[in-house]
Amino acid sequence: MPGQRTAVRVLIATGLLAAAPATASGWVDWAELNPRQMRVGIVHAAVNITGVALYVASLTARLRGHEISGRMYGWAGLGVVGIGGALGGHLAYRLAAGANHAEAVPQLVEPGWHYVADLSDLPQGRPTHRDLDGVAVVAVRQPGDRVHVLAEHCSHLAGPLSQGTLEDGCLRCPWHGSTFRLTDGWNITGPATAPQPAFDTRITDGQVEARLHT
Ligand code: FES
Repeated sequence: MPGQRTAVRVLIATGLLAAAPATASGWVDWAELNPRQMRVGIVHAAVNITGVALYVASLTARLRGHEISGRMYGWAGLGVVGIGGALGGHLAYRLAAGANHAEAVPQLVEPGWHYVADLSDLPQGRPTHRDLDGVAVVAVRQPGDRVHVLAEHCSHLAGPLSQGTLEDGCLRCPWHGSTFRLTDGWNITGPATAPQPAFDTRITDGQVEARLHT
């Protein structure tokens, strides 16, 4: 807009500064995606880097007094960043990168207690895959016949927690190492950013039953 030259420069410079932490967090997320997501992520990154370069060119031209070419670079940068945003949306929504992969579990489990397994069928100290009325869960039997039950598929990228390892009262995902507290599913360490759905358990006549932890 006419008369807004200083504001334009400040705005572009602010956007360029903000691109640095966004790029860093993007690379961290990218490093643990699956191959299909990684491919889109690389294109997304390349497009965004091009957009940033165009905005650098825009700011440089404007500071040198080349207002018209500064605007041209700016419009080009806006278009390219728009494409990068669309790719980011595809990555997040269609390919579910960064989404909570255990979010559906509370919707799928009916209220009340459900049979999990006979206690005698659960080995001590080893995560075991079980089916809870069609919902995959992992059961962990501990000394004193305490049994913990969490949703099977990791909230990060759906890794199989029944193939994970136990450490310090937590279950470590075999894919990228997120750890979830057995008692309530809380994500103690990432990269998972969401807790794992957890279940209350009880033992009735030698049968382990579970219901969603509320
Ligand atoms: S799938 Fe990535 S930490 Fe579990």
